[in-house]
Amino acid sequence: EIIKEAEFIISNTDHTKCPAPDLPEYAFIGRSNVGKSSLINMLSGRKSLAKISGKPGKTQLINHFLMDKAWYLVDLPGYGYAKVSKKVNAGWGTMINNYLTSRENLVCVFVLIDSRLPPQKVDMEFIDFVGKNGLPLSLIFTKADKQSLNKTNQSIAAFRKNMLKTWEDFPPYFISSATETIGKAEVLNFIDKLNQA
Ligand code: GTP
Ligand code: MG
Repeated sequence: EIIKEAEFIISNTDHTKCPAPDLPEYAFIGRSNVGKSSLINMLSGRKSLAKISGKPGKTQLINHFLMDKAWYLVDLPGYGYAKVSKKVNAGWGTMINNYLTSRENLVCVFVLIDSRLPPQKVDMEFIDFVGKNGLPLSLIFTKADKQSLNKTNQSIAAFRKNMLKTWEDFPPYFISSATETIGKAEVLNFIDKLNQA
């Protein structure tokens, strides 16, 4: 699975100005600094398609990228970044919520989770929001290169246990590393299948 053509289309704060919803769309979201933009670069095979930073809060807009002229990949700002003012955080929250609840061509929301951390309240709350709005959800456990696979699997097990307190099923999930290119084929295959469904 390789993306031949990756094209930046538009950045927005306003969900109504996103491209016409005439192609399948996949959104990547998660806490600030979890590795959304890095993952998008890994998937697209382009080093700097999406902007990356060691400092949380880099991505501040809804960014649409067109893949192989066939589907949209969307990079979103992170949620739950303490150093951004409450007002700015709330503003991003509203922007993301409006986008997620109004985007009719959204096929799947990929929620990125830092594979090194125990289940985080903000992640659980966000996932509940996605579920309550009936949006298809997948999880991606990021930065797996930073620890052993055993540790990553322990994190996933803890996450599953936490989620199954309120959810009936555990969603499809992936393990990724943008630095070691882990999970690329799996995520792209998953998207490919959904595109063909
Ligand atoms: P915001 O846009 O600020 O919300 O962050 P983001 O989720 O887009 O994260 P970004 O891709 O900008 O990455 C944040 C930091 O984590 C950068 O320093 C990346 O180099 C690093 N990083 C991202 N993915 C990985 C990974 O898989 N492994 C390692 N080791 N570092 C990673
Ligand atoms: Mg980003």
